Amino acid sequence: MLIRKPNDIPSSEITPEGIYLDRRRFLKRAAAGAILAASPGFLAAGCEAAGQGGTTPSPEADGLAFQMGEELRDELTPYEDVTGYNNFYEFGRDKGDPARNSGNFQIRPWTVEIGGLCHNPGVLDLDEFLRPHELEDRIYRFRCVEAWSMVIPWRGFPLARLVERADPLGSARYIAFTTVYRPEEMPGQRQPILDWPYREGLRLDEAMHPLSLMTTGVYGRDLPVQNGAPLRLMVPWKYGFKNIKSIVKIEFTEEMPVSTWAHDKPHEYGFYANVNPEVDHPRWSQARERRIGEIRRRPTLMFNGYADQVASLYSGMDLTRYY
Ligand code: MTE
Repeated sequence: MLIRKPNDIPSSEITPEGIYLDRRRFLKRAAAGAILAASPGFLAAGCEAAGQGGTTPSPEADGLAFQMGEELRDELTPYEDVTGYNNFYEFGRDKGDPARNSGNFQIRPWTVEIGGLCHNPGVLDLDEFLRPHELEDRIYRFRCVEAWSMVIPWRGFPLARLVERADPLGSARYIAFTTVYRPEEMPGQRQPILDWPYREGLRLDEAMHPLSLMTTGVYGRDLPVQNGAPLRLMVPWKYGFKNIKSIVKIEFTEEMPVSTWAHDKPHEYGFYANVNPEVDHPRWSQARERRIGEIRRRPTLMFNGYADQVASLYSGMDLTRYY
């Protein structure tokens, strides 16, 4: 069973007004049935949880709160779009395929292997993997490299907590993730669409950033298969393809790990994949995006709007070269 600690601090006491109002909008929609029953401890904004669980809010977490306040002027993308318009090539190429073709996918039992350059390797059952972590709900912008975007309330825990738990060796510089390989349950894996299994990675300092989220849920409930059940990554300043789904393996490495899309089309997709309106995809512009549910395209924001929080990770780097 997933552990969901209810939040015992009334959100009105700790939340900037803008966030609180949006949370009320969110919960109102939940009450109207647009969202399935919100769980008792549900809080829509991650900044509310960032200062809890006995941890001291970091300056980054304060930045996060500010960012959330800005963000919440945007409407949440409806649950039906978040769970019905997906990229999960293991189930097919069309946006409706993951929801349509994932009925046979088994998310229990599930194990996660932690390995590579770390002091605490092991193979953990999912419950064991999640047990020490307090789950939070965070609203993030989500920007696909295909130039569409959403605003999504995810549930998860900071990836940094997992890294600390694994305790990487001094030589580790990257973290690598691998998706489950089960062609018998994932029809797309029976075709050579990509070099299976799907793989992704981050630099260790990116993984330690407080915005990086190990994600187990969306809209206050467990992830549906099409969104990457039972465990995926969410790094909101990067293009959506970095956010690998249905993770079974996490490794610490010295060398930059292979990223499936960067491996497949290195001239089109890089390892970093930071959202950048100034660096176009070879086949289309990245300057603007279509927010799902809107007609007019809106300008794409540098680092997807999280520049204040993350730009310092890349200072001195030529972002046109390291795309
Ligand atoms: N992870 C796996 N294993 N397989 C995939 O095909 N697609 C990526 C990413 N993670 C993908 C994946 C892409 S291209 C995007 S845009 C996001 O998942 C889509 O996430 P969503 O369907 O939850 O919106």
